Amino acid sequence: RKLSIVSAPFSGGQPKGGVDKGPEYLLGGGLEKHLQSLDWDTKFDGHLEFPVPESDEDIGKMKRPRYVAEASRRVYKAVSEAAVSGRFVLTIGGDHSIAVGTVAGVREKYPDACLIWVDAHCDLNTPAATDSGNLHGCPLSWVTGLAKPEKDDPFGWVPECLDFKNLAYIALRDVDDFEKKMIKEHGITAYSMHHVDKYGIGKVVEMALQKVNPDLSKPIHLSFDVDAMDPFFAPSTGTPVRGGLTWREACYICEELAATGKLVAMDLVECNPALGASQKDIDDTISAGISLAKSACGDTLL
Ligand code: ARG
Ligand code: MN
Ligand code: MN
Ligand code: MN
Repeated sequence: RKLSIVSAPFSGGQPKGGVDKGPEYLLGGGLEKHLQSLDWDTKFDGHLEFPVPESDEDIGKMKRPRYVAEASRRVYKAVSEAAVSGRFVLTIGGDHSIAVGTVAGVREKYPDACLIWVDAHCDLNTPAATDSGNLHGCPLSWVTGLAKPEKDDPFGWVPECLDFKNLAYIALRDVDDFEKKMIKEHGITAYSMHHVDKYGIGKVVEMALQKVNPDLSKPIHLSFDVDAMDPFFAPSTGTPVRGGLTWREACYICEELAATGKLVAMDLVECNPALGASQKDIDDTISAGISLAKSACGDTLL
């Protein structure tokens, strides 16, 4: 079993500093050693570097568009290379804007892969619809073709590679009006925390897979934003929302996807060690993140 760790220490998709230190902390917490003890042959070639453009005026509502577009293009290159080489790709962020690159990169090798997006947020805003202008709230708009880059748009490089029928959300609870409309209009599979409460996490994962990958014939890509978890468990993150997944519910999703034998890639994003009220908050968030990665890499507890 071979795995590549792609480190994407990027914070340009949102305004808070520190999320670019996520990879350093996750690795410092022993991530690689933990995965090796689960029998993975790990490859880590160092942190990706993201050049800051000389000038990066807003384009419409988009903040730092050139910076984010180039960073995600570099993530795309690294992820597609790792996937094409046949390795499981674990991308550690960084803010969620890097998923433009992970989604496109994974689909270079696995065009029909389904995407399980575990997050308090949909991250489906288009540059026209976003209220905040923060591009970590928009990554899925380009890859799904909802956003159409205009001529000379820095996101012009992004392939339209994800069909809505291959997308399932879990743990939603802060969804913008535009995103709600898109979920309805395109019939996107979406389970909020309401559904987790109503059915339990076991049933929700089962239903999500039944919708997007009924006979488990397709590869699975998991994109995990740590803010899917309740801030009690993962406080050090930029856009926390109360009422999220417990530690066990979050790990369960990863364990269950690993057990399908179809998981080919995971993103772990939005750990921000500069946020939180205490060292304990940071330690909790980082160890939660490491546990999620272990669960996705086959840690079965027994
Ligand atoms: N929907 C909000 C926005 O567009 C919040 C997005 C938060 N995204 C995240 N990856 N944490 O700004
Ligand atoms: Mn989020
Ligand atoms: Mn909101
Ligand atoms: Mn997110």
